[in-house]
Amino acid sequence: MIRLKALAPLAHAEDPSHAVSLLGGKGDNAEILGREITFQVIAGSLVFLLVIGILLAIVVRQRRLPAGGEPPPEDERGHGWIWAGGIAMPLVVISVVAAFAAVSIHQLAHGDGGKPLTVDVTSQRWFWQATYAGDNDVTTANEIVLPVGRPVLLRLETRDVIHSFWVPELAQKVDMVPGRRNSLRLSANEPGTYLGRCMEFCGIQHANMRFEVRVLPPATFDRWLRHAEGPAVPPATPAAHRGEQVFLGSTCSACHAIEGTPARGSVGPDLTHLAAREMIAAGTVPNTRANLAGWVSDPHGIKPGVLMPEGELSGEQLRALLDYLEGLR
Ligand code: CUA
Repeated sequence: MIRLKALAPLAHAEDPSHAVSLLGGKGDNAEILGREITFQVIAGSLVFLLVIGILLAIVVRQRRLPAGGEPPPEDERGHGWIWAGGIAMPLVVISVVAAFAAVSIHQLAHGDGGKPLTVDVTSQRWFWQATYAGDNDVTTANEIVLPVGRPVLLRLETRDVIHSFWVPELAQKVDMVPGRRNSLRLSANEPGTYLGRCMEFCGIQHANMRFEVRVLPPATFDRWLRHAEGPAVPPATPAAHRGEQVFLGSTCSACHAIEGTPARGSVGPDLTHLAAREMIAAGTVPNTRANLAGWVSDPHGIKPGVLMPEGELSGEQLRALLDYLEGLR
C-alpha cells in the first residue's frame, strides 16, 4: 500500500507571501477592478458620513429648542431637506457611481485593443483544459501559461454544469454556462504564478477545482509553446517503455490523450507533458511519484466523487506506468 504525501492544498495557497489580494492586481483588469472597488468604498463612506452628520445635527438642534415651544409652521418643516437629501443627492451620487462603473465595464470588455493571443478554456467536473490554436494545437490541463504584457482572449466554455473562472489577481470572475461561450480579455503585467479556482458550486469536488496561471516573459513563453506543441517524450528506459504499453493497453488511454501515441481520449486531462506540471488532480496534490501512484490506484481516496475510475493494475504494472508518466516532461 502506498502512503500518500500530506493532502496539501495548492502549495502557494499556504504561503503567506503568496496571499491573494483583490486590490493588489497584477493585470490590467485587476487594476480596473481595484480602482472601481476603492472608488465605491470611498463614495459609500462619504455618503454614510454625510447622513450620520446630518442626523447628529438634527438631534443637537432639537435638544436646543425650548421645551414646550410652538412647533414651526408646516412649510418650514424641512421640505427643502426632502428635495435635496431625498432626490437631488441620490440622483447625483448614483449617476456619478453608475458613470464610473460604466467606464470600468467598457474597459474590462474591450481591453487595450491589441491583437490578442486566443486560448480556449474548457471546464468540466473537476478540472480545466486550455487549448492554444496553432500549427499543432497545444492542450494543457489545470495550468494556463500566458506571456506577460500581451493581451489575451480567453474563450470560456463548459462541458457539463455551470462553473466559474476566477483568477483574483488578474481579472474578474466569468461564469461558464452550458451551451454558450463567454469571453474574458485580460493582460498580465508581471511574471509569476497566479492561483485560479472555480467559483460556482459544481458538485462534490467544487473546492478542489483549481488551476494556476503561469505568466512568463515573452521569450520564455515562446519556448514553452514550442515545447508544448511537440509530441510526448518517448519512453527512455525499458521500464518506461513497458509503462507506455500498460497505459495504451488499459482503460487509461480511453479517457486521456498523449500526443505522439495512439491515446486520444478526451474525457480526462491531456497527459502529453504531465511531468512538467507542479500539481495533479486540479491543484489537489503536488505532482510527486507517491501522489501519482495514489491517484492512479485510488483516485477517490484523494478526491471522493471524482469521475476517474480506480486503476486495476498489479504492483509491477503500476511501477512501470509511473516510470513512463514521470518521463512525460
Ligand atoms: Cu467547477 Cu465549481
